[in-house]
Amino acid sequence: KQHIVFIVNCCNCTERPKVQVSIKPDQHVFRGETVTLRCDIDGEGVTSWQYSWYKDSSGSVFSELQEHTFSPVTKSDAGKYFCYGVERGGSRRSQHSDAVTLTVSDRAQTDLSVSPQKWLTEGDSVSLICEVNGSSAGWTFSWFTLTASSDNRYNFQQLSDSSRGTGGNYTVSSAALKHTGVYVCRAERGNPAYNTTYSNKQPVWVTGVSPLVSLIISPSRTQHFTYVSLSLSCEDQSNSDRWRVKRYTESEQWENCSSRWASQTGSTCTINSTITSNTGVYWCQSESGENYHPVNITVHYDVILESPVHPVTEGDTLTLRCLYKFTTPQNLRADFYKAGSLLQNQTTEMIISNVSKSHEGFYYCKHSERGESPKSWISVRGETVDQKTLLKSVLV
Ligand SMILES: *[C@@H]1O[C@H](CO)[C@@H](O)[C@H](O)[C@H]1NC(C)=O
Ligand SMILES: *[C@@H]1O[C@H](CO)[C@@H](O)[C@H](O)[C@H]1NC(C)=O
Ligand SMILES: *[C@@H]1O[C@H](CO)[C@@H](O)[C@H](O)[C@H]1NC(C)=O
Repeated sequence: KQHIVFIVNCCNCTERPKVQVSIKPDQHVFRGETVTLRCDIDGEGVTSWQYSWYKDSSGSVFSELQEHTFSPVTKSDAGKYFCYGVERGGSRRSQHSDAVTLTVSDRAQTDLSVSPQKWLTEGDSVSLICEVNGSSAGWTFSWFTLTASSDNRYNFQQLSDSSRGTGGNYTVSSAALKHTGVYVCRAERGNPAYNTTYSNKQPVWVTGVSPLVSLIISPSRTQHFTYVSLSLSCEDQSNSDRWRVKRYTESEQWENCSSRWASQTGSTCTINSTITSNTGVYWCQSESGENYHPVNITVHYDVILESPVHPVTEGDTLTLRCLYKFTTPQNLRADFYKAGSLLQNQTTEMIISNVSKSHEGFYYCKHSERGESPKSWISVRGETVDQKTLLKSVLV
C-alpha cells in the first residue's frame, strides 16, 4: 500500500496543478445507489496522471483510478474524500483536493403533495408535487394512480401522459371527473437506475359543475352519530341503478360498498350501524369507472353539527344545529364556532341569511357538558349558470 507524504516545506505550491473532486449523482445519496467519485487535475503538459484517493484521516490510498465507483453504496462509505495525482513517469505532483463529503442515508422518502388544493371543480388546475426528502439533484419523477383490484389490492397505473420529466410537478391544467383518484409518485436516478419507494397517497376530488348523478344521504347531513343506520343513494334523472357507491376513508382505503361494512341494493348503499372509522369521502361510480359527486361524511359520538351536505348557494339561508344523541328533541342549546372563533352562543340553532362567499369555512358547535362536534367544511357556490339562465328567461 502506498502512503501519502505531506510536504511541509512547500515552496512550489503555486506551481502545483489544482485538483477538483466531483460526486455523481450527488453528495447526499441513499443506500443502494451507484456513486462515482471523480478526480480532475488541471495540469498542462502532463499526459498521464496516477491518481490516489484517500478517505477521512486515514492515510492509506484505496483507489488509483480517476473515477472510483461504489456500486451499491453502503452507509460505511459515508465520509470525507480527497485525491491527488502524480505524473506517470515524471516528477510533477498535484495539490491535494479539498474534502468532499459523501452522506449516505437510508431509503429515500418521497413526498407527494397537492397544490393548491385536493377538492376541485371541473376545469380547475391542479399540480401533484413530488419531492425526495432532503435531495433534489438528478431525479426523474413518475406519477401513478391507484386502482383497486377485485381482491382489494392496489394496482399502480402509471399516468400515460406523465412526463417522466426532471421537474417534480405533474400539472393537470383543466381537471375533469376522470381525474378523481388516489395518486402516488416515485423518483429514480442513476445508471443502473435506483428507485425510491412509492410516496404517501394523495386523493384528489373533482366535483362536476352540474353532475349527472347526486349522492343523496339520509339522514341528510354531513355528520352522523355512531351506531345508527345511514343510507347513501346515487340518483340520476333516469332512476337507473347502474351506479355504485364507493368510499375512501382515513385508513387510506379505497373501497366498494361491500358486505364487510354495508350492503348495496341497486344504487343504494346502506350502513346498518355506523362507526367512527366510516368517516371519509363517499361518491358514485359509473359502470365505466367515472367518479361523481364526492361528499365528506363524518361519524362521531354524542355531539354532532347538523349542516347541509351540498354547497350552499349565495343568497340562500344556512341553518346549523347542534345535536345530542341521547335527548329528544336532539337540539342542544350550544355555542357555534367558525374557524375557532365564536359566532353565536347559547342558541338552539344558528341561522345565516343571505349567505355570501365570506361564510365559507369550517364550522363546529360546543356544549359545556355534552362536548363538542367535529368540524365540517361549508362551501358556498355562486349562482349557477342554470339559475341565471332561468332568471333571464323569466325576466324576458
Ligand atoms: C426528512 O428527513 C429528515 C432527516 O433527514 C427527517 O427528520 C424528516 O422527518 C424527513 N421528513 C419526511 C417527511 O420524511
Ligand atoms: C371535505 O373536507 C375537507 C377537509 O376536511 C375540505 O377541505 C373539503 O373542502 C371538503 N369538501 C367538501 C365538498 O365539502
Ligand atoms: C354568551 O351569552 C350571554 C348572554 O346570553 C352573555 O352574557 C355572555 O357574555 C356570552 N358569552 C360570550 C363568551 O360571548
